[in-house]
Amino acid sequence: MIIVIDFGSQFNQLIARRVREHNVYCQVEPADISIEKIKELNPNGIILSGGPASIYEKDSPRLDTALFDMGIPVLGICYGMHYMVHALGGEIQKADKREYGFAQLNIVKENALFKGMETGFQCWMSHGDSAVELPKDFIVTASTDNTKIAAIANTEKRLYGLQLHPEVEHSVNGSQMIRHFLFDVCGCEKNWSMKSFCDGAVAQIKEAVGDKKVIMGLSGGVDSSVAATLIHRAIGKNLHCIFVDNGVLRKNEKKSLETNLTKSLDLNIQFVDARKKFLSALKGVTDPETKRKIIGNLFIDVFDEQAGKIDGAEFLGQGTLYPDIIESKSAFGGPTSIIKSHHNVGGLPEKMKLKLIEPLQLLFKDEVRKLGLELGINDELIWRQPFPGPGLAIRIMGEITQARLDILREADAVLLEEIRSAGLYRELWQSFAVLLPIKSVGVMGDKRTFANCIAIRAVTSNDAMTADWAKLSHDLLGKISNRIINEVENINRVVFDITSKPPGTIEWE
Ligand code: XMP
Repeated sequence: MIIVIDFGSQFNQLIARRVREHNVYCQVEPADISIEKIKELNPNGIILSGGPASIYEKDSPRLDTALFDMGIPVLGICYGMHYMVHALGGEIQKADKREYGFAQLNIVKENALFKGMETGFQCWMSHGDSAVELPKDFIVTASTDNTKIAAIANTEKRLYGLQLHPEVEHSVNGSQMIRHFLFDVCGCEKNWSMKSFCDGAVAQIKEAVGDKKVIMGLSGGVDSSVAATLIHRAIGKNLHCIFVDNGVLRKNEKKSLETNLTKSLDLNIQFVDARKKFLSALKGVTDPETKRKIIGNLFIDVFDEQAGKIDGAEFLGQGTLYPDIIESKSAFGGPTSIIKSHHNVGGLPEKMKLKLIEPLQLLFKDEVRKLGLELGINDELIWRQPFPGPGLAIRIMGEITQARLDILREADAVLLEEIRSAGLYRELWQSFAVLLPIKSVGVMGDKRTFANCIAIRAVTSNDAMTADWAKLSHDLLGKISNRIINEVENINRVVFDITSKPPGTIEWE
């Protein structure tokens, strides 16, 4: 196994994921991990992540320097390399020219990490500090125009440093550098797979929960379904699921959950119809964050009340993924810059005083899908597009009323049907309809109309952190528009959203 030491980089889980992609088990540990704990974990190698700090800042993260004398190979990335250089007697300085973005990396000395690579290629840099003097027995192995010491090595001690970020997709050969470190330097074996993750997670849940009960909210989406199936595999009937109909779900949500999940899995599940409660709490509310808070808080109340009927529950299962965690608190753990309040992170556990079970919290969405397939969940559920907790409430601009919900639900169903029959459903990260707060004039059957407007939103993305608007064909857009206007009452205009994220977000509120 490999340990990634978290020096605060927004990429540390990405490093872990890159290691897993090479079928090697990997664990992210905090920077204050003790040498004893490292010995106990007995890793084949250690990767020190980057981080936002400068090595000479008073509170910059540091490890016990005994790390470098353990005979375990170490790869330091960006701040991780600065830390290695500094700890072993070299020098780091604020660079004359900061380097953000692409740079041409020139290999000056071949070594295990760069084995078989051409002498120059593009890499991705993000640093203000640079190494200016190497520790004893280290050599420079690569440079860029701005950074003379862009990669270093002490091959005898198996210590390596990269100023560039091999974990990001834009670094050509980045994945190979990691592969060489894992197999040629650390001697790892390819023995990690989704099956072993699944077996390990089941064993861990069994051990943590024992014969106690876990309660969990099911939304019908991929994340909660995969998490519930995994927990169910570990503890069977001691998992109690609750499905809350909050009145802002899409058309046929309950039916789809019943056909896709509960039919194949003998789940304990309670359906709660809380539509009226949510709609009356949302009456007259137009502010997006207020809508989100109302829905989040009311969900907690309804769930709490329902959970109270289950005797002796000690755990709360959640399908939180890694990107949910970084979007809800800042990646640097510092002052938070919450973009939107995603209600599935936090809230419930504090109120209910339950211990959390979040078996997916280190995974990215595509990994969760692989895990779902491993668990035998059907394709249709696995490939469902994400749907936000606050549901259609954040896709109706302005006030939410039953009539407006009915309009949006129908329009959304038509849109999804067309996207599916065009064979695009899986390719798109999300595709949905938004109901705008304006009416416009039209003419239908020789009659003047003054009716609502629907926006089509369709995006491609890998992880929802960034997204591009999908280049849907004009034919398809025309078909969707025609069908919505013909089949959904009170709509006389359809527009197409051509905004990427950033600067837009995927949802409109
Ligand atoms: P934004 O709109 O922030 O959305 O670009 C990024 C992804 O997150 C989903 N989303 C949510 N998911 N609870 C959720 O479970 C929420 O409150 C929430 N808000 C947004 C959104 O659909 C997209 O996939």
